[in-house]
Amino acid sequence: MTDAAIVLAAGKGTRFRSDLAKVLHPVAGRTLLRWVLEAARPLELERIVVVVGYQADAVRAEAEASGINGLRFVEQSEQRGTGHAARVALESGELDDADTVLVLPGDGPLLTSQVLGELLDAHRGGAATLLTTELADPTGLGRIVRDGDGRVLRIVEELDASEEERGIDEVSTSTYVFEREALGRELARLGTGNAQGEEYLTDVVAPLAAAGVAAVVTAPEVAAGVNDLAQLAHAGSILRSRILERLMLDGVTVVDPAATYVGPDVTVEPDAVLLPGTHLEGACRIGAGARVGPDCRLVDTEVEAGASVSYAVAVQSSIGPGALVGPYASLRPGTRLEAGAKAGTFVEMKASTIGEGSKVSHLSYIGDATIGRDVNVGAATVTVNYDGYAKHKTVIGDRASIGSDSMLVAPVRIGDDAVTGAGSVITKDVPEGALAVERSEQRIVPGYTERKRSRRGKAGDTEHGEH
Ligand code: UD1
Ligand code: CA
Repeated sequence: MTDAAIVLAAGKGTRFRSDLAKVLHPVAGRTLLRWVLEAARPLELERIVVVVGYQADAVRAEAEASGINGLRFVEQSEQRGTGHAARVALESGELDDADTVLVLPGDGPLLTSQVLGELLDAHRGGAATLLTTELADPTGLGRIVRDGDGRVLRIVEELDASEEERGIDEVSTSTYVFEREALGRELARLGTGNAQGEEYLTDVVAPLAAAGVAAVVTAPEVAAGVNDLAQLAHAGSILRSRILERLMLDGVTVVDPAATYVGPDVTVEPDAVLLPGTHLEGACRIGAGARVGPDCRLVDTEVEAGASVSYAVAVQSSIGPGALVGPYASLRPGTRLEAGAKAGTFVEMKASTIGEGSKVSHLSYIGDATIGRDVNVGAATVTVNYDGYAKHKTVIGDRASIGSDSMLVAPVRIGDDAVTGAGSVITKDVPEGALAVERSEQRIVPGYTERKRSRRGKAGDTEHGEH
């Protein structure tokens, strides 16, 4: 077997001060674990052994959801250190066919496929190759101790380091390539005689140094791990800028990158404009020339070319070419706006199709409805889709005109070219081309105001002056 990997993901992440396993915390649209696995995916490793422990089932499920080939899981029931975790992985036998093994920390979301490729390429002849970085503040991390000629001698953990060693600013990123046999041999000999009483993976470096340990020094923006929620947020901003950078270079206008949140699985075509406060989550697709924002949250939603969405929320919806959404609209799952359709101000839609050129401009609820083309739905129209037991469908034909404040009590069908009068409660189907009005006749009471005022005038003698 060529290359294989171990992902260390059994720890709780105590410094996160959270019940959720550290590697399951989301950042910039993916969990920490998923970022690491996605960095490994293009390497097409034959085997990736994920070491699970704390919240093992959930961690395992999250890894499996990636669909990456060659995943295996081993359980480290007691977290006795990174060296112990690697040992459990090797002893599982899952890596017996591997010549070299890449070791990845589960908490390194900034790692890229490119730098992992460079690390594998740099591993030639020696027993191990380390990925290191230089930090202005290396506090808490393992320091790289080199000899006078720059050769790596060992890694010393902060708590075990001398004052002089703590002054070293080059640190381990917990990312390594090892010759499997050499790693297995040294892991079997690991002790726990250190400040934390753990089996340190870092301790295998010293005995391997004689056989040659190389190091690739990379930038902190790639290498920094995440040990607390402040570092998580910082990693998030780096990951988001990478995503936005790629979009901008591909021709997308991002008016304010610091206020734009785009997930890693979103695609945006050239000449689209993303305005501040835009959040694109899941598998959103934004078409050429579309405008999204300000202040939108779209989840798994498609916005086709030239459409415009502002101050809106849309989940699992599809907004056709040139369609208009917002300001202040909510499109819930299963909403489809065909070309040029509109969901305007204070409009909520769910599981409905709005035909080409049809407009729902103000203060309406459209649920479980199919609306034809060139329909006008007046302000404050409601599809009364729920009778307290089940949901029912409303069907509106092409070119129909729904008067303002119509209650369309489903199941109901409004025919092509039909009209409903404002304020009507429509409970029966309306045939094609017909008008349906449902309201009481308007009454006129002539001279009403005059009479009322003169009555008040008499009462006014007692100086009541009420309103
Ligand atoms: C580790 C390194 C340190 C390096 C730093 C980089 C050791 C002893 N220290 O320290 O040199 O600078 O990473 O971020 O290796 N894990 C297990 N089982 C365990 C313990 C840990 O699976 O028993 C996993 C954790 O879930 C985590 C990873 O290993 O994903 C690293 O563990 P962590 O406790 O974060 O190590 P650091 O203290 O950061
Ligand atoms: Ca760490």
